[in-house]
Amino acid sequence: MHVLGIDIGGSGIKGAVVDAETGDMITERFRLETPEGAKPEAVAAVVGEIARNFAWKGPIGCTFPAVIRNGVAHSAANVDKSWIGTDAKALFEETTGCPVTVINDADAAGIAEMVFGAGRDKQGVIIMLTLGTGIGSAVFVDGHLLPNAELVHIEMNGGDAEQQAAESARQREDMSWKKWGKLLNQYFQKLEFLLSPDLFIVGGGVSKKSDKFFQYIETRAPLVVAQMLNEAGIIGGAMAAHAIFQNGEDGEFDHRVILGGQGNG
Ligand code: BGC
Repeated sequence: MHVLGIDIGGSGIKGAVVDAETGDMITERFRLETPEGAKPEAVAAVVGEIARNFAWKGPIGCTFPAVIRNGVAHSAANVDKSWIGTDAKALFEETTGCPVTVINDADAAGIAEMVFGAGRDKQGVIIMLTLGTGIGSAVFVDGHLLPNAELVHIEMNGGDAEQQAAESARQREDMSWKKWGKLLNQYFQKLEFLLSPDLFIVGGGVSKKSDKFFQYIETRAPLVVAQMLNEAGIIGGAMAAHAIFQNGEDGEFDHRVILGGQGNG
């Protein structure tokens, strides 16, 4: 099934048509700027423009950087607070005229990574982290997703861990790789203590520079770099939509459909 995957991020909103069974993008990526303030109506208008760019009439799988249950946003850490309680699915269906599935951005990236990337055929407890403006987290147990795991807004040094360990914090405070690496290490160790993972998969743009900071992270669980990089959100979003529409469901995202029968148990 071909699905339009749309990845909504803090600076850009990107879309491409994806073959949801193979994970291949079958068009170029089309990117527009995230509107200033990222308010619901403005973001929905851009999502509509992306669908029009592809003259799209089919299913859409959209990612969003917040807790998403049944298409409704329940948090807003790095987006406008008015998203909380907003039915993102209904809003995007209005501007695109297409059936839309919405899931958390890190969950989408994690799904793509588990099926086609660094987590392929890996069992046990796997934590995927995306390091960007915020820190996204996705947790898998034997290939099954625990949806909406928000492992980032936990206490660290008396504040929110994300504020200190996100890639945006490194840039904002012009930290050396070593200084940032040590903060990240603190954060990873907290996660290791809480969940005893077998593997960490590290994604987000900065994961391309893993040689600059992996050496400061001293976890028992091995660390690997995500393989899908920029495309994980678009592909994972499309895969989630595929699973839902294929099953005629119109509700909560069913991870078992996506990961079952793909070598992930
Ligand atoms: C949000 C998460 C999101 C992550 C990455 C965090 O601030 O709370 O829901 O997945 O940023 O965008």
